[in-house]
Amino acid sequence: MNDIIYMDNHATTPIAPEVLEAMMPYLTTHFGNAASTHPFGVKAADAVEKARHQVAELLGCSAEEIIFTSGATESDNLAIRGIAYVCQEKGNHIITSTAEHHAILDTCHALAAEGFETTYLPVDNYGRVSPDDVEAAITSETILTSFMYANNEVGTINPITDIAAVAAKHGVLFHSDAVQGIGQLPSNMEMLGVDLASLTAHKIYGPKGIGALYVGGKGQHPRSLFYGGGQEAGIRPGTLNVAGIVGLGAACELSKKYMETGKSSVAILRDTLHRKLMVSLDNLYLNGHPEQRLPGNLNLCFAGVQSHAHLAGLKRVAVSTGSACDSESVKASHVLVAMGVPNALALTAVRFGLGRYNTGEEVDIVVDEVVKVVNRLRALAPE
Ligand SMILES: Cc1ncc(COP(=O)(O)O)c(C=O)c1O
Repeated sequence: MNDIIYMDNHATTPIAPEVLEAMMPYLTTHFGNAASTHPFGVKAADAVEKARHQVAELLGCSAEEIIFTSGATESDNLAIRGIAYVCQEKGNHIITSTAEHHAILDTCHALAAEGFETTYLPVDNYGRVSPDDVEAAITSETILTSFMYANNEVGTINPITDIAAVAAKHGVLFHSDAVQGIGQLPSNMEMLGVDLASLTAHKIYGPKGIGALYVGGKGQHPRSLFYGGGQEAGIRPGTLNVAGIVGLGAACELSKKYMETGKSSVAILRDTLHRKLMVSLDNLYLNGHPEQRLPGNLNLCFAGVQSHAHLAGLKRVAVSTGSACDSESVKASHVLVAMGVPNALALTAVRFGLGRYNTGEEVDIVVDEVVKVVNRLRALAPE
C-alpha cells in the first residue's frame, strides 16, 4: 500500500498520529464505562467531557449542544426523523435537495412512506441550492429544511448562511449535513445560522464510527430514535464510545489549528493537479463550482473514458468514481444528474480528494499515471 498515492479524502481520511496517540490510553488502560461511578468510569467520563469541549470549540458552541453518535449517517437520521416525529403536531413538510447524500435522501424517502410531505429542490449546474427556491417551497406545514454544507462528490459549497436566514425568517428549523465542510470551512454554527448540524470524525483525520449532532440550545431537540439508557440526555442512549469520542475531540482540535495555520496549501496542490491535467489532456470538464468548492476537491469528466475502466487502470493512485456501481449496472451519480451533466459524460467522472498529507511530488506522479491511462483508453475506443 505504501507506493499507492491516496487521493480519496472525501471518502475517508487517515487517522492523524496525534489523534491515535490521544486515543490509545482509552483503548487500553483507561477502558472504563463513562457511566460508571468508580475511578475507571470517572476517568472515561472526564475524557468524554474534554472531547465534548474540543468539538464545541471548533463549532463555536457550548459543550451541552453536542450529542455524540456513531457517525454522520446516524446524525442525519436523528436530525431528520427525530425532528419530524417531535414536530409532527406543527406540520409534516420537510424540504431538502436532489444533490444530498443518501443518508438524507433515503431518510426523507422513508418519512414520505410514513405520510410526511417531502420536497426535493433542484440544484444549479454547479450543485448549489437557491435560497429563493427554499423560500418559495416553505408552506405553513414546513417543519424542517436540510441542505448540505459542501457536496461530497463535487465539493460545491451551498450558500447556507443565506438559506439559514430564509428558514429563520419563516420560523422553520434548518439542519445541515456539514460533514465535508466542518474543519475545512468556517465552522462556527451560530455564525452559519444552522439549528442542527451533522459531523463525523473520519473526514477530519479521526477514527471511523464516531460523529456528533450539533443541536443549537435555543432550538428544538430531536426525539431519540433508540430506547435504552439515559446517555446523551436520553437523545442518544447507548454506552459511549470513549476512545472514538476522544479521537473526535482530538481531530477537531487539530482541524481548528490546521485551519488557522496550514490553510490554502491543499487548494494550491489541487489547482496544480487540475492545471497539469488540462495541459496534457483535452476534453476534460470540471464538475462543481470553480471557486465555491472544497479546497481538496477536483471532480473531472474525462470524455470518452468510462470511470470504472479509468479507475481499474490506475495502479498507483487511489481515487473514486463519481458514479455508484453495482454488480449489474453502472449508474451515473445522482449529484451529476441533478446538476444537468449529460448521462454519457457523467459516467466518465473521477473524483480526486486531496488532503492534508498530499505532496507536490505525489501530484506529479498522479498526473503522469492519469495521462497515460486516459490516452491508452482513448486510443482503444472506437472512433
Ligand atoms: C455528505 C456526507 N454525509 C454523510 C456521510 C456519512 O457519514 P458516516 O460515514 O459517518 O456515516 C458522508 C460520508 O460519506 C458524507 O460525505
